[in-house]
Amino acid sequence: MKVLIKKNYDELSKQASEIIAEVVKQSPDAILGLATGSTPIGTYKELIRMHKEEDLDFSKIKTFNLDEYVGLGGDNPNSYRYFMDHELFDHINIKKENTNVPDGKTKDLLDFCKNYDKRIEEAGGLDLQLLGIGSNGHIAFNEPDEELSVNTSIVKLTEETIKSNARFFNSMEEVPKEALSMGIGSILKAKRIILLASGKGKQEAVKKLLMSDKVSTYLPASFLLLHPDVTIIADEDAYSLM
Ligand code: GLP
Repeated sequence: MKVLIKKNYDELSKQASEIIAEVVKQSPDAILGLATGSTPIGTYKELIRMHKEEDLDFSKIKTFNLDEYVGLGGDNPNSYRYFMDHELFDHINIKKENTNVPDGKTKDLLDFCKNYDKRIEEAGGLDLQLLGIGSNGHIAFNEPDEELSVNTSIVKLTEETIKSNARFFNSMEEVPKEALSMGIGSILKAKRIILLASGKGKQEAVKKLLMSDKVSTYLPASFLLLHPDVTIIADEDAYSLM
């Protein structure tokens, strides 16, 4: 696992966007796995800048997002589809039909999950997966538990995640209790993984991840230790317990 420590959030965002831009330049038809949450916003801003100022071309890029809240459609400002459209897709020359975010309003959730991994595989597999990390060590919506899903599935959100994500909603009651999420296996199939950790709220999770030599379902991010090409980009605040 490679660890890059950056002075602050802006530097972290620059570093992450440079890695993604390199992939896009080298493979203009790359398949990118993308993440939501507040952490990747700066990375997306940089990618938008590179598209506008340096002609970074997304016209053949395909994307698959990690997760979505069950019950929220793309018109809901708290949905991850809405987030991706507003924070990235609407500002670059990606074709909308090439962007995939799990559909929280799909009628048959189980069938959707079964097909999502298949669709990623048929597209050629993820060349790069971008990840954030939850304060409890979750990746995508794979929450600490006695078992973790291998493939895309319907997951129950923990109290901690509901509390922590409530900042985007009007109240805690409004936060959906379930989500569709790529599984640990779906994520580990990506050829390359970048995990971003910013701010003091991530100190514990980063420390546990970097100190551990064991995988544990109670620290979902620890499964990344099994992958041969993971880069963690942390800012000094997130890294300061080390
Ligand atoms: C959500 C997402 C995760 C994300 C996490 C951290 O729970 N499902 O993919 O990594 O939040 O979010 P933030 O970057 O806002 O701290």
